[in-house]
Amino acid sequence: MIIAIDGPAASGKGTLARLLARHYGLKHLDTGSLYRAVALAILNAGGDPADQACALKIARQMDFNQFSDDELRGAGVGEAASVVAAMPEVRAIMLKRQRAFAAEPPGAVLDGRDIGTIVCPDADVKLFVTALAGVRAGRRFEEAVLRGQDGSYEEVLRDIERRDERDTNRAIAPLKPAADAHLLDTSELDIETAFQAAVRVIDGST
Ligand code: CDP
Repeated sequence: MIIAIDGPAASGKGTLARLLARHYGLKHLDTGSLYRAVALAILNAGGDPADQACALKIARQMDFNQFSDDELRGAGVGEAASVVAAMPEVRAIMLKRQRAFAAEPPGAVLDGRDIGTIVCPDADVKLFVTALAGVRAGRRFEEAVLRGQDGSYEEVLRDIERRDERDTNRAIAPLKPAADAHLLDTSELDIETAFQAAVRVIDGST
């Protein structure tokens, strides 16, 4: 079984994807972490994330396991990732990796921006997870505080809105629900309630 989960920044799709993978005995791929890894490698090398030649060179020779989750979630990495993610050649490399992952038994939950539309258009179930930008920023700000990162709620909100705008309006694989995706708005749901709602959708459509 393949479950495709897409949605904007900090919508709760990552946590949901992890819980669903455990519940259904599937593997999980956080596809954003691939773009974040390329972005972080560029930043660490003192490069410019907007430099396509540099991004492509790094993406081609990447060891995708070299960074911890805390490093991938560091300040500025999400923003740089969304710049890199708008490059077609970089996306082509990622597409291969993601499809190879999804094809391995016993199946997988993948979360990202274009899973239901491009990476796994034949997924058994597609969820598009959203929440109000202010709610998403609040969640991401709490995570940043727990990680001991600096920055204000307003900065987090601006980062989220800028990224949503870039991800939604880019020419390649923009953030949008697949025509056959089930929408799940988590603005007023805690994670357990969102998980139960997702399970009902999945059990009802498989
Ligand atoms: O966790 P969060 O929602 O903040 O972001 P993420 O899923 O780690 O993704 C970081 C960035 O990677 C996004 O803003 C997108 O630009 C890009 N991305 C993408 O283009 N396609 C995907 N399938 C996953 C992420």
